[in-house]
Parts: sequence; structure tokens; C-alpha cells
Amino acid sequence: MKMFSFFVVMLFCLGVFGLQEGETEMFKTPQQIHLAYTNDPTSMAVSWYTKDPSDLLGGVWYGIEQQDLGSFSSSTSLALSDGSGYYHTAVMTGLEPGRIYHYFVGSRHEFFSDVYTFRIPNPSEKVRILAFGDMGTFPRGDTTLMHSIRVHEVNPAEPHRMPTVVLQAGDLMYPFGNGGMIAAWFDAMAKVGARVPFMVAPGNRDQQDIITERFEMPMAAYGEHPEPARHNFYYSYDVNCVHFIVISTNFDTFHSNSHQYKWLKKDIEQAQQNVQDPSSSISWIVLMGHTPIYSSSDGHTQGNHELKLAIEDLLEPVTLCLWGDDHVYERSYPVFQSIADIPSNKHVLDERPSKPIHITVGTGGIDNDAWAVDQPDWSAERLITKGYLSMEAKKNSFSVAFIDRDSREVRDYFDIHENGGLNAHPLLLAGGFLLFVGLVAMFLKGKKTGKSGPGV
Ligand SMILES: [Fe+2]
Repeated sequence: MKMFSFFVVMLFCLGVFGLQEGETEMFKTPQQIHLAYTNDPTSMAVSWYTKDPSDLLGGVWYGIEQQDLGSFSSSTSLALSDGSGYYHTAVMTGLEPGRIYHYFVGSRHEFFSDVYTFRIPNPSEKVRILAFGDMGTFPRGDTTLMHSIRVHEVNPAEPHRMPTVVLQAGDLMYPFGNGGMIAAWFDAMAKVGARVPFMVAPGNRDQQDIITERFEMPMAAYGEHPEPARHNFYYSYDVNCVHFIVISTNFDTFHSNSHQYKWLKKDIEQAQQNVQDPSSSISWIVLMGHTPIYSSSDGHTQGNHELKLAIEDLLEPVTLCLWGDDHVYERSYPVFQSIADIPSNKHVLDERPSKPIHITVGTGGIDNDAWAVDQPDWSAERLITKGYLSMEAKKNSFSVAFIDRDSREVRDYFDIHENGGLNAHPLLLAGGFLLFVGLVAMFLKGKKTGKSGPGV
């Protein structure tokens, strides 16, 4: 292992003295670095961009001790089809759950990235998920929300407190072929994505070549992926108690004989079996796609009808469906075939819902849409603002909060807790605690004055 460290130092030295005329650090230094989960919980994929091509020495150096990043995985490289540069991917393997890792990447032996830190979750710990869709970058949309996540959620000095995963439900950057906008979005994203796995779904405003060439999403959690070349468009993976599914609502068809439809049916069936199996760690199914099948905004009034007809039958076992495309926040009650189960308290579900809850969260940064109709019966909350979902999944509970990007207030929340467990949202726990303190204070005061208490 130490041999590698020595090797790296040598390469740095060679690099300092080996610059060729015309070569600049900017062209060779890795940029746009971002992590992604694989289908192996002991592995982590990392991708990055360079203006100039790599040579055979490219890869990722990683380890537990920051001063001894002795493990190495070589990268595969791809010339981008728009001619703007190269993308490289390497997979760190043999990672231990619960450990903090440090890494840097390099695409030419002369140039390396900074050292970044990430953490592999312990199998038993909660899964902390941040999610939003439809961000964009200047002059169409903005990355303020990514900056907010970077500042408030991803502190490199506190890797234990970082989210487990960040999700974007499509319409990443609204690039319109503009290389400057593409680079600006990736630069903003990498400030989060170099430290927390950043998982994406494709949206109708995304360029397919960007989804294909600049990400390395997993394949399929169960069995083979039916179309390996499309694995960045639809895929699934497990992280602790959550089975994540990503579907491609705009670029891959859903007719009943299509690869994606048949795969989705099988994947959800297997995940449902796992949820019902007490020996399995999987407790929740979270699906992310771009175009919503329930919406009351003017993007898709009543949701995308065609997509709803095509896939809703498959989604019954899914706990949470996350969508973008409509630039609003809207959360449904548990709903299936347009019939909603309306609980007495819209913030608490005392048992696992038997129908999916749909959340449209196209509030990443692009201009907001408006409402097309009055709030439908199935709609529990709807907001026109910008923000992101902050969620915590444990084996027997799932809590969801929508954080306003600018005020940072919790604008909506709900908790699912099975078996009446005490796994309520932190806001509810804080309220309960204050109530308890109040009651104790009243009791003590009563005892002092002799006006209340047992036997009075
Ligand atoms: Fe959009």
C-alpha cells in the first residue's frame, strides 16, 4: 500500500518538471468530480472531466488515512461526443461500511484533484435523502439551491452528518447545447457530488449525450439490466433499508413489451418481496422519475395521462414516488387509481400506506409554474416556491420535510411510523417534549399550592 503513496509523490514530482509548452493546468486538472452508488455496497464510482485526454495512468487513489491514500483503481475514459473534452470513471472497491474515506483523482500523471472525503453508510443506520428536480443554471434557472445544500448539509469537517445520497429528478441544467452552462452546473454540483453520491433521473430538458457520457449510475439491483447502454436512464440500487428505482419517463418507452416496462415490473415485484421478508434489510421503495402522474400545476394538469395509464398499475407497492417537470411542490395523500386515502392528520401516518405518496418537487431553481386547477382531493399540500426534500428512512419509519430554499423553513412535512413507533419527525418530537415539560411544571406548581395533584 505504501508503495502507491511513494509512487504518487513521484508522479507529482514528474509532473512539476514535465509540463509541455502549451499545456495548462486548467486543461488537465480533473473537474466536475462526482460520486455515485454502484450495486455493490462496498464500492463507490467516481467520475470526472478533463479538457485534455487521459493516459493509462489515470484513476482514483483512496484510503482511510488521509496521509496514505494507497489503494488505486484505474479509470476508463471517453471522448465526449460534443468534442468538449473527456470523461473518466473509476470504481473504488473493498470499502468498509461505516468508514470515512479520502480520495483524489488524476487523469494525467501530472495533474491531480484535491482530496475529498466521503463515508460508506453502516448497514443498520438511517438513510438520509435530499431530493429536488429542475434546477438549471444562469441565465436559465440557477444553482443557489445546490450552494445552500453545500453550506447547510455537506460540511467536509463533519462527514458523519452528511446526507447518504442526493437525488435530482431530471432537468439538471437546461443546457441547450451551451458548454458554459453545462460546465457551470457541473462545477456547482461537484461541490456536493464529490462528497455525497449524486444520483440522477433524465428529464425532457436534458441532453441524452450528457446523461450517457457524464454519469455512471448503477445497473439493476436484481438480475441483469435489460439494456446496459441505457443504465444511466433507468436503474435501481439498494442503500440500507431503501430500494431506489429510477425510471426514464421521456426518453424510453413504457409500452407493456418494452424493456423498461418489463424490467420495472420485475424490479418492483422483487423489491416488494424483500419488503415483506423480515430477514431482508429492505423496508421502503422509493421511485424517482421526471414527469409526474399526479399534478395540479399547469405543467401537467392531473398528471401525465399517458404515463399514468402505462405504469400506475406497477407502482402500488412503492412508498414514495418523486417527480420533477412541473416547477412546483405538491404532495399527495396515499393514492392509487386516483382514489386517495385521506388520514385524519395530514402530517402523520400511523401505519405503512398501502398506496404510493407522490411528491412533485420541480423546485430546484428554474422559474416556478402556476396552479391550473383548485387543489384536488388527493393533494395534501402544494406550494409555489423553491426548495428541496430532506428525508430520513429507518427500518420502521420514514420522515419527509420540504425545506424552503430561501427562508430554510420547513414548509411541509409528514411521518410514517409503523406500529405506533416513536420515530416521529424531529419537529413533532420537539413539540411533544415541550408539552411534557409544561405538564410537569403545572403538576409541580399545583403540588406547591395544594390546588391539584393526586387525591385533590
Ligand atoms: Fe423542467
